[in-house]
Amino acid sequence: MSSTEELKKEAGIHAAKFIKNGMKVGLGTGSTVKYTILELSRRIKEENLEIKCVPTSIATEKLSLENGIELYELSSLNGLDVVIDGADEFDQDMSLIKGGGGALVREKIIAQAAKKVIIVADESKKVQFLGKFPLPVEVIKFSWKETRRKISKLLQLDESKIIRRNIKDSNVAMITDNGNYILDLHLEQIKNPKKLENSLLNLAGILDCGIFFDIADVVVLSTKKGIEIVNNKRA
Ligand code: 5RP
Repeated sequence: MSSTEELKKEAGIHAAKFIKNGMKVGLGTGSTVKYTILELSRRIKEENLEIKCVPTSIATEKLSLENGIELYELSSLNGLDVVIDGADEFDQDMSLIKGGGGALVREKIIAQAAKKVIIVADESKKVQFLGKFPLPVEVIKFSWKETRRKISKLLQLDESKIIRRNIKDSNVAMITDNGNYILDLHLEQIKNPKKLENSLLNLAGILDCGIFFDIADVVVLSTKKGIEIVNNKRA
């Protein structure tokens, strides 16, 4: 296992300690939170942990079911106690970029449904300014080219570069779990995440974007020196 993978594993497993009997839990998407899901599966089997879980993506649904975790519809639970999810970047204010796995819409819905949002990350995700990681934006298929034109004009981007391709076949666009496209915006530096999020969400045809502003409560950060728990200053 590479050292980055080790760090992901440590963060993922450590975060599972926040989960107690009886909790309603959102399960995030990605290669870090995968370890949280596996650890919760172990605790369900070995410690009789009783929790009700909601997945943030079809990939997480599959992984959870394969590992014996019973899943619920978000609408059946009347809110969640906690969600554990990954991030592509987080800054010192704990603003995030998410959606590297294309699950940003369900991830944001579930984060807003949860009383506490815990992010699992290795130290490579910590940045001074968001934006080196291309910002994912989920757009409705019907109008995607018009939406791309509008975004390109708003942010002065090259239109040809921003549609996300299917990993297995780069000739076709990636389709999200909601049946939409993802545009990845190469911005380099986002000075005002909230302002950018508002401008993007003003455009019809954008379902949501990967800026998660003032949503995270805790980051379980895995570093070469060990686990660091970073709390949101407002928490
Ligand atoms: C998926 C996400 C992921 O949480 C994010 O991409 C981080 O993934 P990983 O832990 O694999 O680096 O937002 O949409």
